[in-house]
Amino acid sequence: MQFNRKDLLGLEDLSSESIKLILDTADNFKEVLSRKIKKVPALRGVTIANVFYEPSTRTRMSFELAEKRLSADVINFSKATSSVKKGETLRDTLENIQAMKVDIVVMRHGSSGAHKFLSEFLEASIVNAGDGQHAHPTQALLDMMTLRERWGTFTSKRVTIIGDILHSRVARSNIWGLTKMGAKVTVCGPPTMMPAAVEKLGVGGVKVEYDLRRAIREADAINILRIQLERQDATLFPSMREYFEVFGISNDVLKSAPEHCIVMHPGPMNRGVEIAQEVADGKQAVILPQVTNGVAVRMAVLFLIAGGKVEENDLQ
Ligand code: CP
Repeated sequence: MQFNRKDLLGLEDLSSESIKLILDTADNFKEVLSRKIKKVPALRGVTIANVFYEPSTRTRMSFELAEKRLSADVINFSKATSSVKKGETLRDTLENIQAMKVDIVVMRHGSSGAHKFLSEFLEASIVNAGDGQHAHPTQALLDMMTLRERWGTFTSKRVTIIGDILHSRVARSNIWGLTKMGAKVTVCGPPTMMPAAVEKLGVGGVKVEYDLRRAIREADAINILRIQLERQDATLFPSMREYFEVFGISNDVLKSAPEHCIVMHPGPMNRGVEIAQEVADGKQAVILPQVTNGVAVRMAVLFLIAGGKVEENDLQ
């Protein structure tokens, strides 16, 4: 199967077959990451610009690493040291980057829809590394890769997403990806942090629960979200301490979930706010394996967007 897409804007418009193709390709590339020489020539001659208008540790570094592992030429843009400071618009900035003969732009931007806007006139491919509250497709794909490694299938599995659903692009992309692949999703968090009509998101909708212990009772995995204070223009909960008491995941709360339940967090974590220290470092957590899989998933996305089909040569 060919990917046949110019851009990756979100999972909402990808078929389950395309998602499976990305995950299968990522499995192939993961093997490269454990070699002594972690590099293949698959994207030799391809130029990629990483354009980050918002802070990032994991996404930015793992995209750059993925690009270098595939032998692409890489350039980096950061808002703080760019001519955005002199008033240059998003469109002008991206058209100038494209004029340098860049093939793929990996972008993070604070405005939902920024990537869709650019994709309509840029010839370069756009890969969404997070847009506002809308989507973070490669985060959901790496979360799904981590789950599929452990489960082998998504059918009949339940993932409970906990926390600030309202501001979370990670939640939205996970809901679309997981429900397309046959998993069931529950969302749980303060009513002030639940988007309108949340129950209709994804394929077939999601279950909404406000009681944390009830929400995780049948969960095969929980995905714990950070409270995005930078996106809140009002106080949506009384205090961090009270948030932890009602929606924080401690070892005691985790006992309400099945013993096999996997604990995920997209990072960055606020220990003691949404997740207790002992849970973050506990044996059910797969938070660092998620980060490792992020490199493999981003290699797969870039490779497929560039028109690739994995041949034996690409892995040598
Ligand atoms: N998960 C995630 O997007 O982390 P960063 O903001 O550090 O990229």
